[in-house]
Amino acid sequence: MPIDFSKFAIVILGASGDLARRKLVPALFKLYETGVIGKGSIVVGTGRSEFTDSSFRERFEGDSPLKENFYYHRGLTGLKAYIESKGHFEQVVFFMALPPEVYLTTAQAIRAEGFEKNVRLIIEKPFGYDYESARTINTGLLECYPETSLFRIDHYLAKEAVLNILVFRFANSLFEPVWNSKYIDSIQINACETLGVETRGDYFDKTGIIRDMVQNHLTQLLLLLTMDRPASLEAEDIRASKLKALESVEYRECHRRQYEGYRNEPRVAPDSVTETYAELKLTIDNDRWNGVPVYLRVGKALPRRGTEIGIVFKPPQGFLFDGFGTIPPNRIIFKIQPSEGIILDVTGKEPGSDVNMTNTMLRFCFGEKYAGGLTDAYQKLIADVLAGNQTLFVSAVETELSWKKIKPCLSAGKLGFYSRGNLPEGSLGADWIDFENYGDVCM
Ligand code: NDP
Ligand code: BG6
Repeated sequence: MPIDFSKFAIVILGASGDLARRKLVPALFKLYETGVIGKGSIVVGTGRSEFTDSSFRERFEGDSPLKENFYYHRGLTGLKAYIESKGHFEQVVFFMALPPEVYLTTAQAIRAEGFEKNVRLIIEKPFGYDYESARTINTGLLECYPETSLFRIDHYLAKEAVLNILVFRFANSLFEPVWNSKYIDSIQINACETLGVETRGDYFDKTGIIRDMVQNHLTQLLLLLTMDRPASLEAEDIRASKLKALESVEYRECHRRQYEGYRNEPRVAPDSVTETYAELKLTIDNDRWNGVPVYLRVGKALPRRGTEIGIVFKPPQGFLFDGFGTIPPNRIIFKIQPSEGIILDVTGKEPGSDVNMTNTMLRFCFGEKYAGGLTDAYQKLIADVLAGNQTLFVSAVETELSWKKIKPCLSAGKLGFYSRGNLPEGSLGADWIDFENYGDVCM
């Protein structure tokens, strides 16, 4: 019988959770629809919760035919025989949608259950709790499976607007010559959410926004923005280039805050000192970036939702237009979400006989150019795992070094507070970009 390379067994560990329902299962439906996951593939949910196959299927919206191949198996004991009873699968892919404290014991249990070959393990972020725990997890995982079977996921790396950062930087000759401290004044990365912790108090209260978002998602944005040109687009070369930039990162200031009312959220400790908002300043101490501050601002329960990057340029040398008023700095804005785009904020002349300067936005909006919509990050990443492509996954050394670098911020300073729905007053003395001003430019 010919081998069917699109016939997979996909096991979701922590299948009763938020991630499985909101992101993984919709991505699997899309992958089935597009033929990446072939007919005859199965999806097995596992966890401590009790479900029947049909109550498990009912948890998920949509009526993809793949749902008929959804099964639930409580716990890991007997899972291998259970999967074998459903057919022969070329690959068994495990997605750990679990809290980080159980990644290693779960991987060990999978190995002990007899899953040895043709296994791929997708591990969610945050990868551990700090450098020491990340190292323990990495060492332990490598005793179970080779690095080529391990996929440390960071879904920000597969967002279309994030993927475009590399292309924008290195496929255009315009930007690379000015991508350094001679021309760039500062970099800002903003990740604001309006939602609070909702149902995730248990996870979030042990984690906090720095571990949840900065150690992984924002660090990845930072590295794509600031790394040197990789030798090729191969996973190894991109990882090496990111790692080199990360080695030069130094956190200089960290301010942590918590929204009022957070301590009353379900499954949050009444005396919690976990931060839900953070402002951080770092530098990248290498030839390219010496003296350029990078400001990060990230939080929950804020007045608006938006992930954006702002590159602020220095004023031109030997300025020809002295005496014509203050001219706003050039900026490049990367809009990552909710709408995606790139805006060049430049200075132009207003029509008329006088030289009146004004800023003008040159824009590229994904929504206008690609009306069909964009591929979801989880859809892309799961497809890459099925194809064995590690390019968009984080290496063991990278995640460990990222923990080492962020360590001074994890419990830095005295916790401040802010009221829900309000942006806390800045603590870094940064001249924050009002990203809302670019809200209408790409809708
Ligand atoms: P949830 O708490 O909603 O779900 C996790 C599931 O893991 C639970 O339903 C539970 O299932 C199982 N679980 C919890 N504690 C344990 C334990 N001690 N031992 C074994 N199983 C346990 O979390 P999320 O789904 O939100 O997140 C899961 C992972 O995905 C986290 O690492 C998170 O950082 C990451 N992530 C989440 C995103 C999201 O939008 N939710 C986005 C990106 C990443 P049961 O009780 O049945 O065992
Ligand atoms: C997850 C965090 O990794 O990313 C969540 O655990 C956060 O707290 C989410 O809300 C944000 O993802 P996105 O894709 O909505 O920006």
